[in-house]
Amino acid sequence: MALTLAFDVYGTLIDTHGLVEQLRQLVGSNARSLSETWREKQLEYTFRRGLMDDYLPFSECTRAALEYACAKHNATLTPNQKADLMALYGKLPAFSDVDAGLSALDRDEFRPYAFSNGTESAVRGLMLSSGLDRHFVDMVSVADLKTFKPNPKVYQYFLQRSGGQRENSWLISSNPFDVIGALRFGMKAVWVKRTSSAIFDDWAFDGQRIEPTLIVESLTNLGARISAESRH
Ligand code: LAC
Repeated sequence: MALTLAFDVYGTLIDTHGLVEQLRQLVGSNARSLSETWREKQLEYTFRRGLMDDYLPFSECTRAALEYACAKHNATLTPNQKADLMALYGKLPAFSDVDAGLSALDRDEFRPYAFSNGTESAVRGLMLSSGLDRHFVDMVSVADLKTFKPNPKVYQYFLQRSGGQRENSWLISSNPFDVIGALRFGMKAVWVKRTSSAIFDDWAFDGQRIEPTLIVESLTNLGARISAESRH
């Protein structure tokens, strides 16, 4: 039976720090830190909006996080410059290992989906601009539920949309909170650890420490690694 794969988008397929060079033109040496604050705050806003049950689309979290990041790093950007950055965010680049990793997935063995906090139109736009759209059976946006990862409902919704079963469905994500959310829900999960300094949270449920089902350094051999693990 084919395994269903849910690929996280921002930070896993798509590099959320792909605008650092453009930011450097605007803010100089603060570019990397501003980009990091932008991403961290964007995610914090999704968590807060989820907890407050006060949904706004992911792009609004991204826009508000850019305001925060500029304020924190004393970057005075014009409204037009911010609008340009937001437009570029819709065309962020894919990581260099992604296309080959997805191309290598045997379609008799795997059913790959994109699965994201981003709205369906934003995710489709990113997949089209990065040329990745051809790899996916479909794209599932949690925006349909008006909440965000890692609410367990979003993983349930993924199964509903994809027709996958928990035990045959894998989340693939670089975001530990997403990996933990999927594992907690009962899916399998791959943590994509592209940098050696990335940290997986110390997290437990029912007294058991949570570990990813698999850890990979890139998507290059993902299919083979999941196949081998599934045969255990
Ligand atoms: C996403 C966020 C987690 O794409 O980056 O869902």
